[in-house]
Amino acid sequence: MTDKINELLRRVEEFKPKAAAEIEEFRIRILGKKGELNALMEEFKTVAPELKRELGQQLNSLKQAATERVNALRDQMQDATANGPGIEDMTRPGSAEQLGSRHPISLVKNQIVEVFARLGYTVADGPEIEDDWHVFSALNFPPEHPARDMQDTFFIEKDPDILLRTHTSSIQVRTMERQKPPIRVICPGRVFRNEAISYRAHCIFHQIEGLYIDEGVSFADMKQSLLYFAKEIFGEQASIRMRPSYFPFTEPSAEVDVSCNLCGGKGCPVCKGTGWLEIMGCGMVDPNVLRANNIDPEKYSGFAFGMGIERIAMLKYGVKDLRLYFENDVRFLHQFDTAL
Ligand code: PHE
Repeated sequence: MTDKINELLRRVEEFKPKAAAEIEEFRIRILGKKGELNALMEEFKTVAPELKRELGQQLNSLKQAATERVNALRDQMQDATANGPGIEDMTRPGSAEQLGSRHPISLVKNQIVEVFARLGYTVADGPEIEDDWHVFSALNFPPEHPARDMQDTFFIEKDPDILLRTHTSSIQVRTMERQKPPIRVICPGRVFRNEAISYRAHCIFHQIEGLYIDEGVSFADMKQSLLYFAKEIFGEQASIRMRPSYFPFTEPSAEVDVSCNLCGGKGCPVCKGTGWLEIMGCGMVDPNVLRANNIDPEKYSGFAFGMGIERIAMLKYGVKDLRLYFENDVRFLHQFDTAL
C-alpha cells in the first residue's frame, strides 16, 4: 500500500496542467468522492491494525499535499489570465491621452478682455438674435442704410424686424437701457453678416466692442486707451495711428491702424508695404445715440470702439487664412494654447 501512496504522491507533484479545466479534472480524479484517494481509504480499512498508524499518517499527508497542489495551481492560472497576454511588461510606455486645447479665438478674446478689465471695463452680454432697434435704429442708422439690406444682413424669416446681429454694438444699446452713466463695458460676441466666405471674410465671426460714457470723456482719452490696448496685445514697440472714417453711431469716427509687427513699420507683404495694419473702428458716441438711449448729451460724452477678434488673432499669430479658425482641425488648434 505504501507503494501506491508514494506513486500517487509522485503524480500529484509532477502534475503540470495546461488549462484551468485540467486542474478540475485532476482534482475530481484524485480527491473526488469516487477518486483514487478515497479508493485508498477504503483499502486502508482492511489493513492489519499494527500497520494502521503509519499508513494513516502517509494517507493524511498525501491528501494534504494533493489539496495544496490543486489550490496552488488554481491561483497561478488565475493570475496569468487576469494579466492577459502581453500586458505583463510594466516597463512598456503608456499611450498618452489626447488633451483638448483652448481655441485661439477664445485665447485672444480672453487677453483683450483682461487688458480692458485693467482699465475698469466689465464684460456685458446680449442675444445673437436681435431686433432692428438694438442693431440699427438706436444707433442712428438712417432708414436707407445698406446694412438694413437683405444683401448684407441675415433676417429671420420674413419679418424685417428680427435679425442676426451684425455687430455687438447691440449689447452697448442694451447696456445703456439698463444702466446710467458712468458706463464702461466691453462686449465680446458672435456676429453674422451675409458675406462670401474667403481667406479674409466669413459670414460668422467674433467681435469685441467697447463703450465708455461719463462726464468729460474726450477723444484724447480714447486714443490713450487704444494705444495702451495695442501695446498690451502687440508688444511695447507697437504704435497706432488714426484715419478719419464714418460710422452712423460715432462722430467723429476713425479707423485705427497698428504698426506692422512683422516688419516693424518698414513695409512688407503683410502690411502691403504701408507699415500699418487696420485693427478696429472707433469714435466719439454720436449725440443722437445718447439721446435715443435717454442719456443727456449736454452732460455726458463717450467713446466706442469695435474690432474683429479673428483679425486680431490673425495679425498676432501670423495666420493668413481666416477660415482655419472655423475648420476645427486639431493640428491647427493645438498650436496656440501655451497652458498645455
Ligand atoms: N460696430 C462697428 C462695426 O461693426 C465697429 C465700431 C464700433 C466702430 C464702435 C466704431 C465704434 O464695424
